[in-house]
Amino acid sequence: MRIIVADNYEAMSKIAADNIQEVITEKNDAILGLATGSTPIGTYEELIKRYEEGKIDFSKIRTINLDEYIGLHPNHNQSYRYFMNEKLFNHININKENTYVPNGSAENIDEEAKNYDKIIENLGGIDIQILGIGNNGHIAFNEPDKALNVGTHVTSLAQNTIEANSRFFESLDDVPKKAVTMGIGQILKAKKILLLANGKNKAEAIKGILSGKITTDNPATMLQLHSDVTLIIDKEISDEIINCN
Ligand code: GLP
Repeated sequence: MRIIVADNYEAMSKIAADNIQEVITEKNDAILGLATGSTPIGTYEELIKRYEEGKIDFSKIRTINLDEYIGLHPNHNQSYRYFMNEKLFNHININKENTYVPNGSAENIDEEAKNYDKIIENLGGIDIQILGIGNNGHIAFNEPDKALNVGTHVTSLAQNTIEANSRFFESLDDVPKKAVTMGIGQILKAKKILLLANGKNKAEAIKGILSGKITTDNPATMLQLHSDVTLIIDKEISDEIINCN
């Protein structure tokens, strides 16, 4: 695992964008696995800037997102499809038909989940997967549990995730309680993984990734099984980890 400590959020975002740009430069029709949440917003801003400067061409790029809330229409301003359009796709020369986000308002959501794995397979697999991490170690919406899922599936959100994500909604009650998410096995199939984390509330979860132990209580610890993971954390997290040891 490659560990990079960035001075701050801005530096973290630039390093992440460098890694993505490198993949696109090597393969102009790369499959990017994308994440939502506040963490990758700076990375997307950096990618937009580089597109505007003529440094990145997204015309042949395909993207596949990790997850979506169940019950939110793609036009809902808190849906992850809306987020991706607003934060990235509307500002670059990507063909939206080449961007995939699970449809959280699909009539048959289990079918939607199954098809999603087929889409990834048909695309030929993910070249680089961007990940954020929840305070409890969740990646995508794979929450701590007795067992973790391999493929894309329907899941219930942990209470602390509902509380953490309520900052984006008008009230706690408005936060969807279920989501459709790529499974851990699917995420581990990506050729490269880039995990971004900033802020000391993520330190505990990150410690798990560096612990040499795997536990379903911290789903992100599974990333230790992958041979090409780059972890980009900010100084706040590394200071917190060092101070606790
Ligand atoms: C959500 C997403 C995750 C994301 C996490 C952390 O629950 N499903 O993909 O990593 O939140 O979010 P943030 O980056 O806002 O801390």
